[in-house]
Amino acid sequence: MKKIWNNDLTLKNLNESVEVYGWVAKKRDLGGLVFIDLRDRSGIVQLVIRPENKFYDLALSLKSEYVIKATGIVVERESKNDAINSGEIEINVESLELLTESKELPFEIKDDTTALDDTRLKYRYLDIRRNEVKNNLIMRSKIMHSIRNYFNEQEFIEVETPVFCKSTPEGARDYLVPSRTYPGRFFALPQSPQIFKQLLMVGGIERYFQIAKCFRDEDLRADRQPEFTQVDMEMSFVDEDDVISMTEGLLKKVFKEVKGIDIKLPIDRMKYVDAIKYYGSDKPDLRYGMKIVELKELFNNTEIEFLKSAHNIDAIVVKDAADKYSRKDIDKLTEFVKKYKATGLIFLKYEDVLTGSIASKLSENEKESIISKLGLEKNDLVFIISGEYNVVKTSLGALRCEVARQLKLYSNSDYALTWVVDFPTFEWSEEEGRFMACHHPFTAPKKEDIDKLLTDKENCYSNAYDIVINGYEAGGGSIRIHDASIQDKMFEALELSKEDIEEKFGFFVEALKYGTPPHGGLALGLDRLTMLLCETENIRDVIAFPKTTSASDLMSECPNIVDKKQLDELHISIKEN
Ligand code: AMO
Repeated sequence: MKKIWNNDLTLKNLNESVEVYGWVAKKRDLGGLVFIDLRDRSGIVQLVIRPENKFYDLALSLKSEYVIKATGIVVERESKNDAINSGEIEINVESLELLTESKELPFEIKDDTTALDDTRLKYRYLDIRRNEVKNNLIMRSKIMHSIRNYFNEQEFIEVETPVFCKSTPEGARDYLVPSRTYPGRFFALPQSPQIFKQLLMVGGIERYFQIAKCFRDEDLRADRQPEFTQVDMEMSFVDEDDVISMTEGLLKKVFKEVKGIDIKLPIDRMKYVDAIKYYGSDKPDLRYGMKIVELKELFNNTEIEFLKSAHNIDAIVVKDAADKYSRKDIDKLTEFVKKYKATGLIFLKYEDVLTGSIASKLSENEKESIISKLGLEKNDLVFIISGEYNVVKTSLGALRCEVARQLKLYSNSDYALTWVVDFPTFEWSEEEGRFMACHHPFTAPKKEDIDKLLTDKENCYSNAYDIVINGYEAGGGSIRIHDASIQDKMFEALELSKEDIEEKFGFFVEALKYGTPPHGGLALGLDRLTMLLCETENIRDVIAFPKTTSASDLMSECPNIVDKKQLDELHISIKEN
């Protein structure tokens, strides 16, 4: 068995005889001496093979990524390499063995690769040899270790829940698994273990956690995968504060153990309505300012026609940036906000006077009040959007993030954490033409809002909370409904028919009738948390074998076509178009 990590060898091992294994990262033939950078999981150690060595010809014949074993004596290097831990020593090789050859690689194994994403995904096993991916996987493993330790210390029980489940409405699209034994019937892969963890509370487990695989067939983005992992937990006899502080303890431990960062507890909480009002998002990135300011009252007597009728006129101020944005840049931002349904983008630049798109039409009074309300200083840039509340907030919120990205106003090694709390119970779905659950249908409405479930959905709020880190929803949870009649009422509010409730959720509502403890919980997105701690913005960087944005695996080439026999056994025929 291999006993030594290459990168651990230092001057403390001087004159020791060692046996090392690994991949040929680099070979240099310096007219006589052959130097090999031998790479293993830990890093590099340098081998030297002298011409008089009987393995010299073998050394000369080695190519990149050949797998070898070498024995030799640790000696001090003449020219040292500060960049690596083993840089003060090298191994004077006595014997060398070629274990496996390697084909020529599709891309070089190096830190700043220029290989295309698709190539890296196709040869993911080679990509994993690169430090970047490998270190992310090591970080992920440390995070999981730390999480398991925490939950053990807190007397949680790790329980595995099924992967073949019942398809239930009200979530994202399911991945389905056809049943061979029940023609025409399907299992669904779990979008989360939500129902099971609640049933575990009915089962008296009281404190449950699981590092669980979840599956959702939804449009993918840089922070979403069809197959992802949740750190899922549930507790009985708790309120919102208990779940929040249990989660804070977990985050504190993980940040400390894997990054050496002390996060300040308690983490601030922001109401959902304020997150939207000030940041135009339910996952505000608080690493930078640019809070949204409402200016409507300054325009009560305006002569500017389109602002007269606007219900909302909101602004963000980009400090010291007026000279950084040309007319052309602003035109591009105008196109950007249109994606969020804004009809246009007003800009103002402040030097000694205000200039910009509407400056000439503003009254002196309006100018003065804008300058003082926004606290403008020289070279500040102001963006204003008018219109309907949600459009104004969402588009300014997105613009805020875009400008921060363009001006590099943040670093991924800084962390801003906040809870967003008091979510609405329902959100209107244009697509469905009805109110849907904002979190999920098992979320407890606030006590005072239970009576509004059927009559005043817009004004129902829940005991639901999200943990937001650097503008990402890192996790979410809620206190659950533990009363069967309220759960029934919730399904009714979601316009599920009596038959649907019975057919899809009957077993669950039945379970709630057998002495259900009050309970609540939360799930962290492990991939997202790891992504944040690895300081990357792409979730694929922290998953060993990720899918593409069109939900396929380029390496094994799936989804793939299966044999007719397999389809026949499953009673499935493929529809042409
Ligand atoms: P929710 O749907 O908010 O809640 O999911 C919890 C967390 O999982 C992560 N997440 C994802 N990560 C990667 N790719 C995806 N497609 C994806 N979807 C979600 C996010 C999110 O915050 N059962 C509830 C939790 C609860 O109420 O306890 C649930 O699944 O980080």
